[in-house]
Amino acid sequence: MDQSGAIDNLLQEERVFRPLPQLVIEANVNPQELEGARKFAAMDPAGYWEEAADELDWFKKWDQVLDDKDAPFYRWFPGARCNIVYNALDRHIETANKNKLALIWEGEPGDQRKYTYFELYREVNRFANALRSLGVRKGDRVVIYMPPLPETVISMLAAAKIGAVHSVVFAGFSAKALRKRINDAQAKLLITSDGFYRNGRIIGLKETADEALVGACADCVEAMVVVRRCNIGVDMVDGRDFQYEDLVRQERNEAPTEVMDADDPLFLLYTSGTTGTPKGVVHSHGGYMVGVHRTLTTVFDIKPTDIFWCTADPGWVTGHSAGIYGPLMAGTTSVMYEGHPNYPQADRLWSIVAKYGVTIFYTAPTMIRMLMRFGTQYPKQHDLSSLRLLGTVGEPISPEAWIWLYKNIGRSECPVLDTWWQTETGMFMISPLPISVLKPGSVTKALPGVEVDVVDRQGNPVPPGKGGLLVVTQPWPSMMTGLWNDDDRFKEYWSQIPGVYYAGDVARRDEDGYIWIQGRADDVINIAGHRIGSAELEAAFGVHPAVCECAAVGVPDQIKGEAAKAFVMLNEGFEPGDELIKDLKKTIRNELGPVAVIKSIEFRDSLPKTRSGKLMRRVLKAEENGFEIGDLTGLDED
Ligand code: WT7
Repeated sequence: MDQSGAIDNLLQEERVFRPLPQLVIEANVNPQELEGARKFAAMDPAGYWEEAADELDWFKKWDQVLDDKDAPFYRWFPGARCNIVYNALDRHIETANKNKLALIWEGEPGDQRKYTYFELYREVNRFANALRSLGVRKGDRVVIYMPPLPETVISMLAAAKIGAVHSVVFAGFSAKALRKRINDAQAKLLITSDGFYRNGRIIGLKETADEALVGACADCVEAMVVVRRCNIGVDMVDGRDFQYEDLVRQERNEAPTEVMDADDPLFLLYTSGTTGTPKGVVHSHGGYMVGVHRTLTTVFDIKPTDIFWCTADPGWVTGHSAGIYGPLMAGTTSVMYEGHPNYPQADRLWSIVAKYGVTIFYTAPTMIRMLMRFGTQYPKQHDLSSLRLLGTVGEPISPEAWIWLYKNIGRSECPVLDTWWQTETGMFMISPLPISVLKPGSVTKALPGVEVDVVDRQGNPVPPGKGGLLVVTQPWPSMMTGLWNDDDRFKEYWSQIPGVYYAGDVARRDEDGYIWIQGRADDVINIAGHRIGSAELEAAFGVHPAVCECAAVGVPDQIKGEAAKAFVMLNEGFEPGDELIKDLKKTIRNELGPVAVIKSIEFRDSLPKTRSGKLMRRVLKAEENGFEIGDLTGLDED
């Protein structure tokens, strides 16, 4: 099955799946309540989100739910005081959740660590105190360059607890990419680990972190904290580097939680756009916690007995909202796995589901496509009967992958909830609930309190069945509060089509009002559910002396959904060949990291351009794919 087939199938899919009666009876939100919530939210959005905010704890309540005077710089809950960590941890210590498991972590070699809410609370407090003694203060930026470890969670929460702003950088980024983010954030502290286990090997991380600091901005990163994961010897710089275990050993178990304004920043998370520079998406304590809490608890119907597993790495927004903050605020038990899904063989995920009795399993379509290849014998070896809900995110899921997941993992009983959202949205935006009627490949409808539309370039709604641009027409609480140091770029989200939020996706609505996402409308490539900009790749290629010019586009990939293909024009004196291809790939690894997968490189004598000299990537893409995922030609004719 190639991607073009997948899109065709998405366009033809007509199957419908209804929830089992028992599931509807037991659901936290039944169909009537969902309809009621939609109506209430449409009539009184502020009232709806205020009710959601009332489910959380605040040090001081808001003067107003939403201040839109400075739109698009919306302010949610102005006047309110809070801290998301109070809701994720502190408040649970006063309830029956105190001794419940907050986190079950499994390392790739098979080691395990479990934390109750009380234990996690104490660990966070100790590290919060350590951060304070290292001189980290409210508003300072802390970059966390870590694999999925308990200490990654602890670092994020400890930073947030003292009012510092965390920025997690995925461990698959290179030293240069890390340095870029450290510099942009003007980070004061870097947290990393000696290394981590991946596919049976130890990957060193500390040395990459060291390399990133060479040439980083002069007055940033005064200190580095190193977590011992693999017990490999690493060079520690005297006075700059601190062993995590040494720092927390002498710290107290209690630490004050900083009182934050609702719109004080909680974290920065870098994501790719259409230029060479990644954007630092900013989320705040108040709005983010309300949006994430309400949407995660309703979509995943969280119950006290759930074991929730989101397979995303903490380096992405899914890891933030659905892996850490959402589940902890909900008081549920979260599972985290360090390593490769196929290590030591293709049943690792199913063995984890069976071992801990995972009830809700949330993953990416790319993962399903990868596991499908190995057939059903792997899931069949494990008792997956604990599962009750499945979810996917990150890219369109083909009906084939949806059905495979539903049948072979979900016993044709567990709803598959396809959730559409973005780093910028912070929370789930378009998604079914467990009680919804499902169509494989459709993200169904916007959640209560979220208003979306499919429009043409002028902002006029397109008729059912037609492709158009996905926009969000009303502000939502966990919307990003800005882009770090880049107000102009932030405003672009709202000016492409005036007055609405432009998501950058192509979508279509069917006769039932169900939404089908077709792919990106812009020059952003979605590789295995991770965004990478064409311009970012091209800039990285440009670093190589052989490259005169380059165009990078997304091409279909069976497993990754999309992968990058580069068309390269060489400088005088350089000859195409396998050696050069290898060398160019090395440059990309060096510039961006293993996260930027280059599927192929083709040498060309010229690249298609407009008369004004702009690269026409669409031409290359259409040539390559025989179609355009973001095909808007029909739309433009309308
Ligand atoms: C882009 C956002 C939010 C977590 C993961 C990605 C694509 C996201 C879906 C979905 C089809 C999806 C969109 C979106 N996307 N979810 N359910 N169906 N496409 O976050 O890196 O900010 O990327 O991922 O293209 O714009 P992100």
